[in-house]
Amino acid sequence: MSPLSAARAALLVYAVGAAVLVAQLVRRCLGGFLEPVFQPQPDRVAIVTGGTDGIGLATAKHLARLRMRVVIAANNETKAQEVVRQIKEETLNDKVEFLYCDLSSLRSVRDFVQKFKGKKIPLHVLINNAGVMMVPERKTKDGFEEHFGLNYLGHFLLTYLLLDTLKKSGSPGHSARVVTVSSATHYVGQLNLDDLQGRRGYSPHGAYAQSKLALVLFTYHLQHLLDAQGSHVTANAVDPGVVNTDLYQHVFWGTRLVKKMTGWLLFKTPQEGAWTSIYAAVTPELEGLGGRYLYNEKETSSLKVTYDRKLQQELWDQSCHMAGVPDISQGAILE
Ligand SMILES: NC(=O)c1ccc[n+]([C@@H]2O[C@H](COP(=O)([O-])OP(=O)(O)OC[C@H]3O[C@@H](n4cnc5c(N)ncnc54)[C@H](OP(=O)(O)O)[C@@H]3O)[C@@H](O)[C@H]2O)c1
Repeated sequence: MSPLSAARAALLVYAVGAAVLVAQLVRRCLGGFLEPVFQPQPDRVAIVTGGTDGIGLATAKHLARLRMRVVIAANNETKAQEVVRQIKEETLNDKVEFLYCDLSSLRSVRDFVQKFKGKKIPLHVLINNAGVMMVPERKTKDGFEEHFGLNYLGHFLLTYLLLDTLKKSGSPGHSARVVTVSSATHYVGQLNLDDLQGRRGYSPHGAYAQSKLALVLFTYHLQHLLDAQGSHVTANAVDPGVVNTDLYQHVFWGTRLVKKMTGWLLFKTPQEGAWTSIYAAVTPELEGLGGRYLYNEKETSSLKVTYDRKLQQELWDQSCHMAGVPDISQGAILE
């Protein structure tokens, strides 16, 4: 990416962030965000990646409050054990546990899935939430650009390897659900299929937006695949809004200053940011419905290019290749 394109990507990401903040301010002035209320789900099992902080922590806690069994997939054992203790104490739900998973390592994702399957329990909800944003240029353990490798490819492989368990766990009227956390930045993202790793020039803004765009394309393709197989599993993408979390630690210092001073007013709290993920995970309104982009607990349109079936398939093919798994969608999806 040329310096000019990198500057353009940064401007677009900040512009989309500012637009969301204005919308959130207006909403706050008009009464704010209302916590959705759901029935307890005591027989359901959820995995939440990145459940140790921010939106993921709020999501895991809320699901635990709904009496679900919650597995927190995270890469910081000390922090995760403390979070598990805290959630158990606050929700009085003992069925909360931690399982190590470093999304930036395909080996670790495979190990996690093996350990999870070893528990011989069902999986009704998979929340692909963990992420990093605008980190300096660096690579994952497998040599992928970090946003692409961790935010996208780690979750691609995790979902892929858990599909059989999700399919076995879903039933008519009680679908298993894959919920993938994207972002409004996907609207200004570009998928560079011939340079997914940003080798021609790195832009932290472009790389983050691309990873979030890839997650939407992946979600839609996955839903086509699940439909073609007649399985009782749905896949939806969610957009949490702009949320006051540590995700912003690598952004421009001026943005961090604005967040520090106005975060309480302009940003969603982590709890508010989690509500769309929780809605997608449990609402009866979405039973059997997938392939949607959800924002503020409502369906909305994603970027036009995300509906491009050819692009979805191309990304899926490349992802299978990069993750070292067979392409199960070849020939399975009828146009
Ligand atoms: N905040 C926003 O405004 C916003 C807006 C749109 C979308 N999102 C998306 O929402 C999701 C959650 O973000 P957040 O705002 O809650 O950020 P956060 O507070 O920084 O939380 C990120 C979570 O991801 C985990 N994580 C990071 N690297 C990991 C790895 N290699 N393996 C496993 N887990 C890892 C973190 O673990 P540690 O606890 O160990 O750090 C943490 O639990 C992200 O996908 C983000 O892109 C956020």
